[in-house]
Amino acid sequence: MIKVIRMTVNGQDTELGVDERESLADTLRRRLGLTSVKKGCEAGECGACAVLLDGKSVNSCLYLSVWADGRGVLTVEGLTGENGGLHPIQQAFVDEAAIQCGFCTPGLVLTGAEIANSGKTYTREELRELISGHLCRCTGYENILNALEKVAGRRDKDSGASDGGADDGGADDW
Ligand code: FES
Ligand code: FES
Repeated sequence: MIKVIRMTVNGQDTELGVDERESLADTLRRRLGLTSVKKGCEAGECGACAVLLDGKSVNSCLYLSVWADGRGVLTVEGLTGENGGLHPIQQAFVDEAAIQCGFCTPGLVLTGAEIANSGKTYTREELRELISGHLCRCTGYENILNALEKVAGRRDKDSGASDGGADDGGADDW
């Protein structure tokens, strides 16, 4: 059955009819041409399809488009920094050469943007945990973690100081 939904996609009000069984990944890719949203496993295992839904990273392959009715969706096509340039996580990925084939990159950048936008800081191991839902076959993850540390790293791993980071909510809280 077709249902009309309204959502904000990359800042633009969008209304369209979708099959009730259609995934958000398919709607974004096939209907709206937002091909930064990658489909790897289509089983919630790889994170390549991640988008921000009201600021929170979700695997769009497992999320029905009808559930996005009334909500805000952000893909890499709509991600910018404060002055319309690169978002800090995008710049960090460039600076740290955190990209090889790029298939995993949009999803990782969006999850990284959520982490950066939270204003919280994390140790490298905490960041590793936070991106554990993303698989990358190329980079070995170290440069990706270098990029994440640039925007949300807490290098004093032993201080135990709470700065609003993982100590007061942890990896589940962003
Ligand atoms: S394609 Fe969605 S998690 Fe892999
Ligand atoms: S850069 Fe190729 S899968 Fe991550």
